[in-house]
Amino acid sequence: MKLTKTILATGVAFSALATATFAHAEPTAEVLHWWTSGGEAKAVSALKEDFEAKGGKWVDSPVAGGAGDAAMTVLRSRVLSGDAPAAVQLKGPAIQEWAEQGALADLNDVAAAEGWNDVLPAAIQTIMQYEGDYVAVPVNIHRVDWIWANPEVLAKVDVTEVPGTWEEFNSLADKLKAAGITPLAHGGQPWQDATIFETVVLGVGGPEFYQQTMIDLDEDALKSDTMKAVFDQMRKMRGYVDADFSGRDWNLATAMVMNGDAAMQIMGDWAKGEFMAAGKVPGKDFICAPTPSENGYLFNTDSFAMFEVSGDDKVAGQKLLAELIVGEKFQETFNLLKGSIPARLGVPMTNFDDCAIKSESDLKSAEEAGGFLPSMAHGMALRGHLAGAIIDVVTAHFNSDMSSDEAVIRLVEAVELAKD
Ligand code: BGC
Repeated sequence: MKLTKTILATGVAFSALATATFAHAEPTAEVLHWWTSGGEAKAVSALKEDFEAKGGKWVDSPVAGGAGDAAMTVLRSRVLSGDAPAAVQLKGPAIQEWAEQGALADLNDVAAAEGWNDVLPAAIQTIMQYEGDYVAVPVNIHRVDWIWANPEVLAKVDVTEVPGTWEEFNSLADKLKAAGITPLAHGGQPWQDATIFETVVLGVGGPEFYQQTMIDLDEDALKSDTMKAVFDQMRKMRGYVDADFSGRDWNLATAMVMNGDAAMQIMGDWAKGEFMAAGKVPGKDFICAPTPSENGYLFNTDSFAMFEVSGDDKVAGQKLLAELIVGEKFQETFNLLKGSIPARLGVPMTNFDDCAIKSESDLKSAEEAGGFLPSMAHGMALRGHLAGAIIDVVTAHFNSDMSSDEAVIRLVEAVELAKD
Protein backbone atom coordinates (compact mmCIF):
# COMPACT_ATOMS: atom_id res chain seq x y z
CA MET A 1 0.00 0.00 0.00
CA LYS A 2 2.74 2.39 1.03
CA LEU A 3 4.76 1.37 -1.95
CA THR A 4 1.81 1.92 -4.30
CA LYS A 5 1.32 5.38 -2.85
CA THR A 6 4.96 6.17 -3.36
CA ILE A 7 4.82 4.96 -6.93
CA LEU A 8 1.68 6.97 -7.55
CA ALA A 9 3.17 10.03 -5.95
CA THR A 10 6.32 9.65 -8.01
CA GLY A 11 4.18 9.20 -11.10
CA VAL A 12 2.31 12.42 -10.36
CA ALA A 13 5.56 14.22 -9.72
CA PHE A 14 6.97 12.94 -12.99
CA SER A 15 4.04 14.00 -15.09
CA ALA A 16 3.95 17.40 -13.40
CA LEU A 17 7.60 17.72 -14.26
CA ALA A 18 6.96 16.66 -17.83
CA THR A 19 4.19 19.25 -18.15
CA ALA A 20 6.40 21.90 -16.66
CA THR A 21 9.28 20.98 -18.95
CA PHE A 22 6.97 20.92 -21.93
CA ALA A 23 5.49 24.28 -20.97
CA HIS A 24 8.94 25.77 -20.70
CA ALA A 25 10.51 23.99 -23.62
CA GLU A 26 11.38 26.52 -26.29
CA PRO A 27 9.37 25.45 -29.34
CA THR A 28 12.00 24.58 -31.90
CA ALA A 29 11.57 23.46 -35.48
CA GLU A 30 14.07 22.55 -38.11
CA VAL A 31 12.23 23.28 -41.34
CA LEU A 32 13.34 21.55 -44.56
CA HIS A 33 12.04 23.35 -47.64
CA TRP A 34 13.01 24.35 -51.17
CA TRP A 35 11.81 27.94 -51.19
CA THR A 36 14.95 29.76 -52.23
CA SER A 37 13.94 32.01 -55.16
CA GLY A 38 13.16 35.71 -54.55
CA GLY A 39 9.40 35.32 -54.13
CA GLU A 40 9.64 32.01 -52.31
CA ALA A 41 12.19 33.32 -49.83
CA LYS A 42 9.97 36.29 -48.98
CA ALA A 43 7.04 33.96 -48.37
CA VAL A 44 8.94 31.54 -46.15
CA SER A 45 10.38 34.47 -44.17
CA ALA A 46 6.82 35.46 -43.27
CA LEU A 47 6.36 32.02 -41.70
CA LYS A 48 9.67 32.22 -39.88
CA GLU A 49 8.84 35.67 -38.50
CA ASP A 50 5.42 34.55 -37.23
CA PHE A 51 6.98 31.50 -35.62
CA GLU A 52 9.67 33.56 -33.91
CA ALA A 53 7.15 36.17 -32.76
CA LYS A 54 5.36 33.37 -30.91
CA GLY A 55 8.58 32.38 -29.15
CA GLY A 56 9.69 29.68 -31.57
CA LYS A 57 13.25 28.90 -32.59
CA TRP A 58 13.44 28.33 -36.34
CA VAL A 59 16.28 26.24 -37.75
CA ASP A 60 16.34 26.87 -41.47
CA SER A 61 17.23 23.98 -43.82
CA PRO A 62 16.72 25.20 -47.37
CA VAL A 63 17.64 22.89 -50.25
CA ALA A 64 17.67 24.80 -53.54
CA GLY A 65 16.08 23.21 -56.59
CA GLY A 66 12.71 23.88 -58.19
CA ALA A 67 9.83 21.50 -57.41
CA GLY A 68 11.81 19.97 -54.56
CA ASP A 69 13.63 17.09 -56.28
CA ALA A 70 16.88 17.88 -54.47
CA ALA A 71 15.06 18.48 -51.17
CA MET A 72 13.45 15.04 -51.36
CA THR A 73 16.86 13.41 -51.88
CA VAL A 74 18.17 15.16 -48.78
CA LEU A 75 15.07 14.12 -46.85
CA ARG A 76 15.58 10.45 -47.68
CA SER A 77 19.17 10.47 -46.50
CA ARG A 78 18.30 12.37 -43.31
CA VAL A 79 15.57 9.87 -42.39
CA LEU A 80 17.82 6.91 -43.24
CA SER A 81 20.48 8.22 -40.89
CA GLY A 82 17.90 8.61 -38.12
CA ASP A 83 18.01 12.39 -38.17
CA ALA A 84 14.67 13.52 -39.60
CA PRO A 85 13.98 17.27 -39.66
CA ALA A 86 10.92 18.23 -37.58
CA ALA A 87 8.94 19.86 -40.38
CA VAL A 88 9.29 19.07 -44.06
CA GLN A 89 7.75 20.63 -47.15
CA LEU A 90 5.99 17.56 -48.53
CA LYS A 91 3.04 17.14 -50.86
CA GLY A 92 0.30 14.89 -52.14
CA PRO A 93 0.82 11.13 -52.19
CA ALA A 94 4.35 11.53 -50.77
CA ILE A 95 2.66 12.33 -47.46
CA GLN A 96 0.97 8.92 -47.56
CA GLU A 97 4.22 7.22 -48.54
CA TRP A 98 6.09 8.63 -45.54
CA ALA A 99 3.15 7.96 -43.22
CA GLU A 100 3.11 4.30 -44.32
CA GLN A 101 6.74 4.10 -43.21
CA GLY A 102 5.66 5.26 -39.75
CA ALA A 103 7.79 8.38 -40.14
CA LEU A 104 5.14 11.02 -39.46
CA ALA A 105 3.78 12.38 -36.18
CA ASP A 106 0.06 12.95 -35.81
CA LEU A 107 -1.35 16.40 -35.27
CA ASN A 108 -4.84 15.41 -34.18
CA ASP A 109 -4.78 17.42 -30.96
CA VAL A 110 -3.92 20.66 -32.81
CA ALA A 111 -6.48 19.78 -35.49
CA ALA A 112 -9.22 19.34 -32.90
CA ALA A 113 -8.27 22.48 -30.97
CA GLU A 114 -8.15 24.57 -34.15
CA GLY A 115 -11.22 23.05 -35.81
CA TRP A 116 -9.42 22.02 -39.02
CA ASN A 117 -12.32 19.83 -40.08
CA ASP A 118 -14.43 22.98 -40.36
CA VAL A 119 -11.92 25.29 -42.00
CA LEU A 120 -10.21 23.08 -44.59
CA PRO A 121 -11.85 21.91 -47.84
CA ALA A 122 -12.70 18.20 -47.77
CA ALA A 123 -10.35 17.36 -50.67
CA ILE A 124 -7.44 18.99 -48.85
CA GLN A 125 -8.28 17.30 -45.53
CA THR A 126 -7.96 13.94 -47.26
CA ILE A 127 -4.48 14.76 -48.57
CA MET A 128 -3.34 15.90 -45.11
CA GLN A 129 -4.53 12.75 -43.33
CA TYR A 130 -3.27 9.20 -43.09
CA GLU A 131 -5.82 6.65 -41.93
CA GLY A 132 -7.91 9.46 -40.49
CA ASP A 133 -5.04 11.13 -38.58
CA TYR A 134 -3.76 14.57 -39.53
CA VAL A 135 -0.07 14.23 -40.38
CA ALA A 136 0.43 17.39 -42.47
CA VAL A 137 -0.83 20.95 -42.81
CA PRO A 138 -1.68 22.79 -46.04
CA VAL A 139 -0.18 26.15 -46.85
CA ASN A 140 -1.82 27.14 -50.09
CA ILE A 141 -3.42 26.28 -53.40
CA HIS A 142 -1.17 26.94 -56.38
CA ARG A 143 -2.60 26.73 -59.88
CA VAL A 144 -0.22 25.21 -62.41
CA ASP A 145 -1.92 25.89 -65.77
CA TRP A 146 -0.98 29.56 -66.23
CA ILE A 147 0.65 31.63 -68.93
CA TRP A 148 2.65 34.64 -67.70
CA ALA A 149 3.22 37.20 -70.42
CA ASN A 150 4.96 40.51 -70.92
CA PRO A 151 2.41 42.85 -72.55
CA GLU A 152 5.08 45.14 -73.99
CA VAL A 153 6.64 42.22 -75.80
CA LEU A 154 3.27 41.02 -77.11
CA ALA A 155 2.60 44.56 -78.33
CA LYS A 156 5.63 44.29 -80.62
CA VAL A 157 3.57 41.92 -82.74
CA ASP A 158 0.35 43.88 -82.17
CA VAL A 159 -1.14 41.42 -79.72
CA THR A 160 -2.84 42.50 -76.51
CA GLU A 161 -4.15 39.23 -75.14
CA VAL A 162 -2.83 35.84 -74.17
CA PRO A 163 -4.03 33.15 -76.60
CA GLY A 164 -7.16 31.19 -75.73
CA THR A 165 -6.52 28.05 -77.80
CA TRP A 166 -3.38 26.06 -78.65
CA GLU A 167 -3.82 27.02 -82.34
CA GLU A 168 -3.79 30.68 -81.34
CA PHE A 169 -0.83 30.00 -79.10
CA ASN A 170 1.09 28.47 -82.02
CA SER A 171 0.27 31.26 -84.43
CA LEU A 172 1.26 33.92 -81.88
CA ALA A 173 4.48 32.03 -81.13
CA ASP A 174 5.26 31.76 -84.87
CA LYS A 175 4.69 35.48 -85.26
CA LEU A 176 6.97 36.27 -82.31
CA LYS A 177 9.66 33.98 -83.64
CA ALA A 178 9.48 35.62 -87.05
CA ALA A 179 9.97 38.97 -85.29
CA GLY A 180 13.12 37.62 -83.60
CA ILE A 181 11.51 37.28 -80.16
CA THR A 182 11.74 34.13 -78.00
CA PRO A 183 8.11 33.09 -77.58
CA LEU A 184 8.55 30.80 -74.58
CA ALA A 185 10.86 31.26 -71.61
CA HIS A 186 11.68 27.80 -70.37
CA GLY A 187 14.14 25.97 -68.22
CA GLY A 188 15.06 22.52 -69.50
CA GLN A 189 14.70 20.53 -66.28
CA PRO A 190 12.47 17.45 -66.21
CA TRP A 191 9.89 18.96 -63.83
CA GLN A 192 9.61 22.09 -65.99
CA ASP A 193 9.12 20.01 -69.15
CA ALA A 194 6.44 18.09 -67.24
CA THR A 195 4.78 21.33 -66.15
CA ILE A 196 4.28 22.33 -69.79
CA PHE A 197 3.31 18.78 -70.73
CA GLU A 198 0.50 18.49 -68.22
CA THR A 199 -1.03 21.79 -69.30
CA VAL A 200 -0.97 20.49 -72.89
CA VAL A 201 -2.58 17.20 -71.79
CA LEU A 202 -5.33 19.19 -70.10
CA GLY A 203 -5.83 21.59 -72.99
CA VAL A 204 -5.56 19.21 -75.93
CA GLY A 205 -7.44 16.34 -74.29
CA GLY A 206 -9.70 18.11 -71.80
CA PRO A 207 -10.21 17.38 -68.09
CA GLU A 208 -11.58 13.85 -68.60
CA PHE A 209 -8.56 12.87 -70.69
CA TYR A 210 -6.29 14.34 -68.03
CA GLN A 211 -8.05 12.21 -65.41
CA GLN A 212 -7.71 9.07 -67.54
CA THR A 213 -4.03 9.56 -68.36
CA MET A 214 -2.40 11.45 -65.49
CA ILE A 215 -4.39 9.94 -62.63
CA ASP A 216 -5.99 6.64 -63.71
CA LEU A 217 -3.08 5.69 -66.04
CA ASP A 218 -5.55 4.15 -68.46
CA GLU A 219 -3.60 2.33 -71.16
CA ASP A 220 -6.02 3.04 -74.00
CA ALA A 221 -5.98 6.74 -73.26
CA LEU A 222 -2.19 6.76 -72.86
CA LYS A 223 -1.70 5.30 -76.33
CA SER A 224 -4.54 7.19 -78.01
CA ASP A 225 -4.32 9.58 -80.94
CA THR A 226 -5.10 12.35 -78.48
CA MET A 227 -1.87 11.56 -76.63
CA LYS A 228 -0.04 11.66 -79.97
CA ALA A 229 -1.53 15.11 -80.55
CA VAL A 230 -0.22 16.11 -77.11
CA PHE A 231 3.32 15.10 -78.13
CA ASP A 232 2.87 16.92 -81.47
CA GLN A 233 2.12 20.08 -79.50
CA MET A 234 5.12 19.42 -77.24
CA ARG A 235 7.32 19.25 -80.36
CA LYS A 236 5.99 22.67 -81.33
CA MET A 237 6.73 23.99 -77.84
CA ARG A 238 10.32 22.79 -78.18
CA GLY A 239 10.62 25.03 -81.22
CA TYR A 240 9.51 28.07 -79.22
CA VAL A 241 12.25 28.05 -76.56
CA ASP A 242 15.63 29.74 -76.91
CA ALA A 243 18.90 27.93 -77.56
CA ASP A 244 20.13 28.21 -73.96
CA PHE A 245 17.11 26.68 -72.26
CA SER A 246 18.82 23.53 -71.01
CA GLY A 247 19.13 23.30 -67.21
CA ARG A 248 17.92 26.88 -66.63
CA ASP A 249 16.15 27.45 -63.28
CA TRP A 250 12.48 28.37 -63.52
CA ASN A 251 12.92 31.75 -61.84
CA LEU A 252 15.52 32.74 -64.41
CA ALA A 253 12.97 31.88 -67.09
CA THR A 254 10.48 34.13 -65.26
CA ALA A 255 13.10 36.87 -65.27
CA MET A 256 13.35 36.56 -69.07
CA VAL A 257 9.67 37.46 -69.34
CA MET A 258 10.10 40.24 -66.79
CA ASN A 259 13.04 41.73 -68.67
CA GLY A 260 11.45 41.44 -72.09
CA ASP A 261 13.83 38.70 -73.27
CA ALA A 262 10.92 36.36 -73.93
CA ALA A 263 7.19 36.83 -74.36
CA MET A 264 5.61 34.13 -72.18
CA GLN A 265 6.24 31.45 -69.60
CA ILE A 266 4.03 28.50 -68.73
CA MET A 267 4.42 28.01 -65.01
CA GLY A 268 2.47 27.70 -61.78
CA ASP A 269 1.63 30.89 -59.93
CA TRP A 270 4.79 30.79 -57.84
CA ALA A 271 6.01 32.70 -60.92
CA LYS A 272 3.72 35.52 -59.82
CA GLY A 273 5.62 35.53 -56.52
CA GLU A 274 8.76 36.37 -58.55
CA PHE A 275 7.10 39.21 -60.43
CA MET A 276 5.71 40.64 -57.18
CA ALA A 277 9.04 40.31 -55.35
CA ALA A 278 10.58 42.35 -58.17
CA GLY A 279 7.94 45.07 -57.66
CA LYS A 280 6.04 44.29 -60.87
CA VAL A 281 2.35 45.08 -61.11
CA PRO A 282 -0.13 42.48 -62.37
CA GLY A 283 -2.19 43.65 -65.34
CA LYS A 284 0.42 46.32 -66.15
CA ASP A 285 3.94 44.87 -66.12
CA PHE A 286 2.78 41.29 -66.65
CA ILE A 287 -0.44 39.52 -67.51
CA CYS A 288 -1.73 36.18 -66.36
CA ALA A 289 -4.17 33.90 -68.14
CA PRO A 290 -4.89 30.20 -67.88
CA THR A 291 -3.32 28.05 -70.55
CA PRO A 292 -6.00 26.84 -72.99
CA SER A 293 -7.37 24.47 -70.36
CA GLU A 294 -10.93 23.53 -71.36
CA ASN A 295 -12.20 24.92 -68.05
CA GLY A 296 -9.93 22.63 -66.08
CA TYR A 297 -7.69 23.65 -63.18
CA LEU A 298 -4.50 21.87 -62.15
CA PHE A 299 -3.89 22.35 -58.46
CA ASN A 300 -0.78 21.98 -56.41
CA THR A 301 -1.05 22.36 -52.65
CA ASP A 302 2.12 22.92 -50.65
CA SER A 303 2.08 21.44 -47.21
CA PHE A 304 4.31 20.60 -44.28
CA ALA A 305 4.48 17.16 -42.75
CA MET A 306 5.75 16.72 -39.21
CA PHE A 307 8.25 13.91 -38.80
CA GLU A 308 8.57 11.79 -35.65
CA VAL A 309 11.17 13.55 -33.49
CA SER A 310 11.99 13.32 -29.84
CA GLY A 311 12.38 16.19 -27.40
CA ASP A 312 9.65 18.37 -25.89
CA ASP A 313 11.06 21.46 -27.56
CA LYS A 314 10.75 19.86 -30.99
CA VAL A 315 7.27 18.50 -30.42
CA ALA A 316 6.18 21.91 -29.12
CA GLY A 317 7.75 23.48 -32.22
CA GLN A 318 5.80 21.19 -34.55
CA LYS A 319 2.52 21.99 -32.85
CA LEU A 320 3.14 25.72 -32.88
CA LEU A 321 4.11 25.63 -36.55
CA ALA A 322 1.06 23.59 -37.51
CA GLU A 323 -1.26 25.92 -35.62
CA LEU A 324 0.27 29.00 -37.25
CA ILE A 325 0.18 27.59 -40.78
CA VAL A 326 -3.54 26.90 -40.82
CA GLY A 327 -4.28 30.23 -39.08
CA GLU A 328 -6.33 32.74 -41.08
CA LYS A 329 -3.89 35.63 -40.85
CA PHE A 330 -0.92 33.54 -41.91
CA GLN A 331 -2.81 32.07 -44.86
CA GLU A 332 -3.41 35.58 -46.12
CA THR A 333 0.07 36.99 -45.53
CA PHE A 334 1.91 34.00 -46.94
CA ASN A 335 -0.20 33.57 -50.05
CA LEU A 336 -0.02 37.27 -50.94
CA LEU A 337 3.74 36.78 -51.20
CA LYS A 338 3.79 33.27 -52.67
CA GLY A 339 1.44 33.88 -55.61
CA SER A 340 -1.01 31.19 -54.50
CA ILE A 341 -4.39 31.41 -52.78
CA PRO A 342 -5.29 30.27 -49.26
CA ALA A 343 -6.00 26.61 -48.60
CA ARG A 344 -8.18 27.62 -45.65
CA LEU A 345 -11.83 28.35 -46.37
CA GLY A 346 -13.22 31.81 -45.74
CA VAL A 347 -10.01 33.87 -45.86
CA PRO A 348 -11.06 37.27 -47.30
CA MET A 349 -9.74 37.81 -50.84
CA THR A 350 -9.98 41.61 -50.60
CA ASN A 351 -6.22 42.15 -50.57
CA PHE A 352 -5.50 39.73 -53.42
CA ASP A 353 -4.85 40.77 -57.05
CA ASP A 354 -6.82 39.86 -60.17
CA CYS A 355 -4.75 36.74 -60.92
CA ALA A 356 -5.54 35.32 -57.47
CA ILE A 357 -9.21 36.30 -57.76
CA LYS A 358 -9.36 34.54 -61.12
CA SER A 359 -7.67 31.49 -59.62
CA GLU A 360 -10.28 31.34 -56.88
CA SER A 361 -13.27 31.74 -59.18
CA ASP A 362 -11.92 29.30 -61.80
CA LEU A 363 -11.27 26.81 -59.01
CA LYS A 364 -14.92 26.95 -57.99
CA SER A 365 -16.25 26.53 -61.52
CA ALA A 366 -13.75 23.75 -62.30
CA GLU A 367 -14.80 21.96 -59.11
CA GLU A 368 -18.43 22.10 -60.16
CA ALA A 369 -17.63 20.83 -63.66
CA GLY A 370 -15.34 18.03 -62.43
CA GLY A 371 -12.22 19.76 -63.77
CA PHE A 372 -10.41 20.46 -60.48
CA LEU A 373 -7.46 18.11 -60.94
CA PRO A 374 -4.21 17.36 -59.09
CA SER A 375 -0.95 18.25 -60.82
CA MET A 376 1.09 15.28 -62.02
CA ALA A 377 4.26 17.33 -62.51
CA HIS A 378 4.11 18.65 -58.94
CA GLY A 379 3.59 15.40 -57.11
CA MET A 380 -0.12 15.74 -56.42
CA ALA A 381 -1.58 13.09 -58.71
CA LEU A 382 0.66 10.05 -58.53
CA ARG A 383 3.22 8.39 -56.33
CA GLY A 384 6.79 9.36 -57.10
CA HIS A 385 7.85 6.32 -59.14
CA LEU A 386 4.78 6.57 -61.40
CA ALA A 387 5.11 10.30 -62.01
CA GLY A 388 8.84 9.73 -62.58
CA ALA A 389 8.11 7.18 -65.31
CA ILE A 390 5.94 9.68 -67.20
CA ILE A 391 8.31 12.60 -66.68
CA ASP A 392 11.30 10.62 -68.01
CA VAL A 393 9.50 9.99 -71.31
CA VAL A 394 8.33 13.59 -71.57
CA THR A 395 11.88 14.87 -71.09
CA ALA A 396 13.40 12.31 -73.44
CA HIS A 397 10.91 13.37 -76.13
CA PHE A 398 11.44 17.09 -75.53
CA ASN A 399 15.21 16.79 -75.80
CA SER A 400 15.43 14.63 -78.92
CA ASP A 401 13.72 14.21 -82.26
CA MET A 402 11.59 11.31 -81.00
CA SER A 403 8.35 11.01 -82.93
CA SER A 404 4.98 11.27 -81.22
CA ASP A 405 4.27 7.64 -82.18
CA GLU A 406 7.38 6.47 -80.42
CA ALA A 407 6.79 8.70 -77.40
CA VAL A 408 3.37 7.14 -76.89
CA ILE A 409 4.78 3.61 -77.11
CA ARG A 410 7.48 4.49 -74.60
CA LEU A 411 4.95 6.15 -72.32
CA VAL A 412 2.77 3.06 -72.15
CA GLU A 413 5.81 0.83 -71.55
CA ALA A 414 7.23 3.05 -68.84
CA VAL A 415 3.92 3.29 -67.00
CA GLU A 416 3.34 -0.47 -67.19
CA LEU A 417 6.81 -1.16 -65.83
CA ALA A 418 6.38 1.31 -62.99
CA LYS A 419 3.00 -0.12 -62.06
CA ASP A 420 4.45 -3.60 -61.37
C1 BGC B 1 6.02 24.08 -55.27
C2 BGC B 1 6.09 25.58 -55.16
C3 BGC B 1 7.45 26.05 -55.61
C4 BGC B 1 7.78 25.51 -57.00
C5 BGC B 1 9.14 25.89 -57.52
C6 BGC B 1 6.40 23.65 -56.67
O1 BGC B 1 6.39 22.24 -56.76
O2 BGC B 1 4.73 23.63 -55.00
O3 BGC B 1 5.84 26.00 -53.85
O4 BGC B 1 7.49 27.44 -55.57
O5 BGC B 1 7.70 24.10 -56.98
O6 BGC B 1 10.13 25.46 -56.69
